[in-house]
Amino acid sequence: MGGGTWGVDDKVWFVGGGDEAVVIDAAHDADAVAEAVGGRRVVAVVCARAYNGHVNVAPALAVATGASVLFHLDGRLLWKRTHPGRGPGGYRCDNQRVQVAGRQLRVLHVPGHAPGASCLRLSGLGTVFTGDPLFVGGPGATGRSYSRFPAIIWSIRDRLLVVLPTTAVRTGHGANTDVGDEAPHLAVWVAMRLLSCKARSPGSVPVSVRPAGTSFRGAGGLAGVGVLCGARAVAVGVCCGRVAVAWVWGFYRMCAGVVKSRFFGG
Ligand SMILES: [Fe+2]
Repeated sequence: MGGGTWGVDDKVWFVGGGDEAVVIDAAHDADAVAEAVGGRRVVAVVCARAYNGHVNVAPALAVATGASVLFHLDGRLLWKRTHPGRGPGGYRCDNQRVQVAGRQLRVLHVPGHAPGASCLRLSGLGTVFTGDPLFVGGPGATGRSYSRFPAIIWSIRDRLLVVLPTTAVRTGHGANTDVGDEAPHLAVWVAMRLLSCKARSPGSVPVSVRPAGTSFRGAGGLAGVGVLCGARAVAVGVCCGRVAVAWVWGFYRMCAGVVKSRFFGG
C-alpha cells in the first residue's frame, strides 16, 4: 500500500446464502478464495478500496467465477497501479446497492484512507463491512500516499457513526468491533492527531493514531496519551523536552468541534 508493505492479515469476506455470494476484497490467493466460495454463484467481487493487497487476485477470481469486479469510481488510479493492463468489470457509486441472497449491500463512500474507499452496509442484519477506514480503537492509516486524516474523520462521523450503535463493524484487518464502542472516541483521535502534528519535526513521517486511551508514539520522539473526559477529549504528550496538550470538545455530539493545542516549556 502506498509504495510499502505491512505485516498484517488481510481479511476476505463472503456475504450471501446457500446459492450465491458476494466476495469482498479478493486478496492474495484466488484458488483459496474460490474454494471457500464452494459451488455458490459469485454475484460480484467487490473491492472496499483498491490498494494492492486487497485487489491483487480480484481479476483472477473474476475469471474463475465469471463475476465482475466492482469498486468505487474514485479508486481507479489505485487499481491501475496493481492491474495496469486490465480494468474492473464496473464501478459502484455512493449509495448504490448490490443484491445478494435476498439482501442488499449498500455502498457507503468513505474517503480518507484511500480514494474510492467504501464500506458495505448489509441491510437488515446490522452489519457494515468497513475495509480500512475504521478499526478497533481508531481510524485507518492516513500517513501514506492518497490518504488524508481530515477526510477519514469526516467520513467516519458522517457515514459510519450515524447508524445504530449496535451495528457490527467487520473490519478489513484484525478484530471486529461495533459502532457504539468506537463513536465516543472520535474526539480523542482528533486530539491525538492534533498533538502529533503539533510536535512533528520537519521531514519526519506523520504519526499514526493509536487506540484511544492508550499511549502513543510519534516522530520526533513524541510520546503521549489520549483520553476521553465526558464530552471532551484530551491528548497530552512530551516531545523534545516540551509538554504538549491538545484538547477537543463537542466534536461528535455537537457535529462541530473546538480544537486547540499548546506547547509548554522548551
Ligand atoms: Fe488494508
